[in-house]
Amino acid sequence: MTDQPEEANGADAHAVSVAALDEVAAATETASLDAIRARYLGRGDGLLTVFRKRIGTIADPEARRAMGQMVNALVERVTDAIEERRATLSATADGDGAADAIDLTWPPPPLRRGHLHPVSRVFRDVRRIFAQLGYMAVSGPEVEYDRYNFTLVNMPPGHPSRDTQDTFFVDNDRVLRTHTSPVQVRSMIIRGAPQRVIVPGKAYRRDYDATHFPMFFQVEGMCIDSGIALSDLKGTLEFFARSVFGVDRAIRLRPHHFEFTEPSIELDVSCAVCGGEGCKLCKGSGWLEILGGGMIHPNVLRNGNVDPTRFSGFAFGMGVERIAMLAYGIEDGRLLYDNDVRFVRQR
Ligand code: PHE
Repeated sequence: MTDQPEEANGADAHAVSVAALDEVAAATETASLDAIRARYLGRGDGLLTVFRKRIGTIADPEARRAMGQMVNALVERVTDAIEERRATLSATADGDGAADAIDLTWPPPPLRRGHLHPVSRVFRDVRRIFAQLGYMAVSGPEVEYDRYNFTLVNMPPGHPSRDTQDTFFVDNDRVLRTHTSPVQVRSMIIRGAPQRVIVPGKAYRRDYDATHFPMFFQVEGMCIDSGIALSDLKGTLEFFARSVFGVDRAIRLRPHHFEFTEPSIELDVSCAVCGGEGCKLCKGSGWLEILGGGMIHPNVLRNGNVDPTRFSGFAFGMGVERIAMLAYGIEDGRLLYDNDVRFVRQR
C-alpha cells in the first residue's frame, strides 16, 4: 500500500470526510455525534486519522507536505461540523425550542375559560328573576301560523297594524313569528287559568340597524288570575328592572298602544351609555324603551278559551338584545352578533 500514488490517498481521504460530514448533518442527538467523532477521528484507528499515519510514508517532501495540509484541513472541517451540529441540537433542546419541550415539573399555564355570550347571560338572568316570582318558562314554534301571530292576538286580516311588523312570510298561512306573543294564546289553550309563564325565544323581522336585528330574542311574560290589575304589572316590572339594572337606574312607565293589550304601557330605563344626557344609543332622549306590556285584551283571553268575566291578566314582551346593550353599555347592538373575539372575550 505504501507505493500507492499520492493522488489516490488524497482522494480517499476526501471521500471519507464527505461521508463523515453527511453523517454529522443527519445526526439528531449529541450521542450520535460522539459516535461519529470516535469512528472518524479516533486516536488510533479513526477512518480519517489513519490517513495521517500514511503521510510519513510518502517519499517526496513536496507531496508529503501537500498531503499533510490536506488531511489536517479535512480533520478540522469534520471537527468543526461536529461542534456546530452539537450547538444546534442543544439550542433546540433547551433554548428557542422551549415551547416544544415539555417540562412536566412546571405548573400548568392558566386555562382560558370560556364564558356565556352577553345575550345568553341576560336570558339566564331574566329566567332566574321570573322564576323567583313563580313563572314557568315555556316555548312555542318559530314558524308560526299567521292566525296565532296576528289574528288571535287581535290583529285580524287586513288590520293596518300588521304592516308595522316587517314580516317574513313562509307561505300563505305561515310566517316567521314577529314576536313571542302568539305563545300567549297557545299557553292559555294548553294551561288555562290561572297561570304564570315566561316565553324566552327567537323572533324575526325585516329590520337591521344599531338596535334592530332580523333575528332577535324576546321574553314574553304572562300572568292570568282572578283580580289581576295594572298595578300588579307595574310592581312586577319594577322588581324586574331593579333586579337587572340596579336601584340607581331610573325607570318610567309610558302609556302606549298594542292591539293585544288594553290599556298598554311601555317601560323605559335611563340610558346606560350616557346616563340620561342623550347619546346615539338613546337617540338623544336619555331613555331606552326596554319592553311593552299591558292588560291582556278580553278578545285575546277569549281566543285562549279563558273567560274574561272571571279572569284578567297582564302580559309584557321585552327585547333581550336591548337589555344586554343597556346592562353592559353596548352602543351598537350589531357587535353582539359579529362574533369578533375581541368583543366577545370581554366580561
Ligand atoms: N309583542 C310586543 C312586541 O313585540 C310586545 C308585547 C308583548 C306588548 C306583550 C304587550 C304585551 O313589541
